Amino acid sequence: MSYPYQIKSLEQYREDWKESIENPEAFWGNIGQHFQWKKPWESVLEWNFKEPSVKWFNGAQLNITENCIDRHLKDKANQPAIIWEPNDPNDHHRMLTYAQLHLKVNQFAHVLKNNGVKKGDRVCLYMGMIPELAIAVLACARVGAIHSVIFGGFSAQSISDRLQDAKSEFIITCDGAFRGAKDIALKNVIDDALISCPFVKRVIVYTHTRSAVSMIKGRDVWWEDEVRKVETAGNPDFPAETMDAEDPLFILYTSGSTGKPKGVVHSCAGYMVYTNYTFLNVFQYQPQEVHFCTADIGWITGHSYIIYGPLSAGGTSLMFEGIPTFPDAGRFWDIIDKFKVNILYTAPTAIRSLMAFGLGPLQNKDLSSLRVLGTVGEPINEEAWHWYDEHIGKKKCPIVDTWWQTETGGVLISNLAGITPSKPSYATLPMPGVNPVLVDEKGNEILENNVTGNLCIKSPWPATIRTTYGDHERCRTNYFATYENLYFTGDGAYRDENGYYRITGRVDDVLNVSGHRIGTAEVENAINMHAGVVESAVVGYPHDVKGQGIYAYVIYNGTHGDEQMIRKDISATVSRIIGPIAKPDKIQLVSGLPKTRSGKIMRRILRKIAEGDIENLGDVSTLLDPTVVNEIKTGRI
Ligand code: PRX
Repeated sequence: MSYPYQIKSLEQYREDWKESIENPEAFWGNIGQHFQWKKPWESVLEWNFKEPSVKWFNGAQLNITENCIDRHLKDKANQPAIIWEPNDPNDHHRMLTYAQLHLKVNQFAHVLKNNGVKKGDRVCLYMGMIPELAIAVLACARVGAIHSVIFGGFSAQSISDRLQDAKSEFIITCDGAFRGAKDIALKNVIDDALISCPFVKRVIVYTHTRSAVSMIKGRDVWWEDEVRKVETAGNPDFPAETMDAEDPLFILYTSGSTGKPKGVVHSCAGYMVYTNYTFLNVFQYQPQEVHFCTADIGWITGHSYIIYGPLSAGGTSLMFEGIPTFPDAGRFWDIIDKFKVNILYTAPTAIRSLMAFGLGPLQNKDLSSLRVLGTVGEPINEEAWHWYDEHIGKKKCPIVDTWWQTETGGVLISNLAGITPSKPSYATLPMPGVNPVLVDEKGNEILENNVTGNLCIKSPWPATIRTTYGDHERCRTNYFATYENLYFTGDGAYRDENGYYRITGRVDDVLNVSGHRIGTAEVENAINMHAGVVESAVVGYPHDVKGQGIYAYVIYNGTHGDEQMIRKDISATVSRIIGPIAKPDKIQLVSGLPKTRSGKIMRRILRKIAEGDIENLGDVSTLLDPTVVNEIKTGRI
């Protein structure tokens, strides 16, 4: 397969972008020709942002797995689809060719069906980064079930909330997962979650760490036993379910400014076309190249650029189970050397943490196979950008700074590797099909350049969020109601004289910790669950490695233990309610919070104190009790 819709020059990019905005139907209709459909579409695009209602390729029928697997069998049956590197470098890596992936996905699709999974059912996946996770995701898509992958760092309570929200009756998990020196007991966490989810009918457990698990009769089955039954039964082929273009493909929960995570829903056709198109164009992927995206499949980056983008392009996707610093800080470089990786796509937080180890871990590592570098998830500071450029890319590899969100499904603003001139810390220009605008507080579009504003998108791209699961109104109010007829991203951005965008960060109460989105309200709710806590306020502060750290101010009236112990108790509570990823970096116990006379917490002041900017707190005269500010300033951690 060649990629006829790969942009080859800056002029072509500009022409394509213009055409895509003036005539999106013609533009995406052309791209759509390059996929395998069971039935053609009746219309390319129908939309209004009022409801919102967005339909791409409406009337068409397809199955995304035929596009990600079956259609490559003719030419690429023996090409690796997935290369898997285990957590422990002494364990064997695995390679799954397209033929092997086809077999395993088909077998597991049978397993799902045999266990009662039907089209439209929601299946929750809580697994480590092993090939079986990708297989399970694709098998769900093959039978038409809606997958909901939950990142391994979430707690039983978070899983239970998600299972209830999606009404998932099926779970796929592992006994455990390895992450660096840790062994995480995933099935145990699922067992805890299921205490409050009696509606779950079936748990399929893959053996990975072979740690002790309790298998409940009538509910829990082993993955391997179920696959064996399919093998014994003969013919493993599983005809891919016919899906309508707008049928949901998956739900992925993400944090917002309210306490409860939202189930972002993406649908089959638009998401497929868009992840494929952006994968090929942003990275300028060439046949046979090895693409290494270091994200976890529990996040959108893993969905779009480990699984669906690379596989729909017939590419080779490298999946890594472990962490960049295990067994030492040279692990990424070893992997690149070992598999001759061509594209490395990672998060600024990983770059910063590796930078801190100096150049030693890079010694004797051959990185010459690298052609393109990418970053995602958070703004990249110039120092990290230059380090990445000099020491990893050896100044020969373009760096693509890709800005996007769970809700956007694929990259919306990014330079195209080797085509758009890059500028450190700038995501640069919009992808074809994407029409960004900056608006002021009142929602007026700002037309000039060299300005900052709230970043909105004017019209739909194929992987636009379709709804928030079970609550369409929430989708409308969150994204489409702040500014009329615009999708509001929640991010601020600066636009320079060339029209390049630089993302300045969230303008709502959402934190970005190590590239992970965490709502301050969510963390506050979790802290407030602790018996001794009266009230809390959570803000972000700049953190050298994580980008943002979590700073919690807590009013505590318990009597149990010293301050240090109380802090540990509060952390443990957050870990139990949300998961270890949301644990505050700093907890300051306070006797009061700065509030206005109407009872609103003045977060602006708390943010400044957390940032260490205590001399410039601005106007505090509207506070109910200004003395509390002095106490907080003095007790700052
Ligand atoms: O604030 C932006 C930041 O991450 C948010 C989206 O988070 P999530 O849905 O978890 O998806 C992360 C991976 C796509 C955005 O609203 N963000 C993402 N990419 C960048 C970024 N900020 C600056 N530069 C980026 N390249």
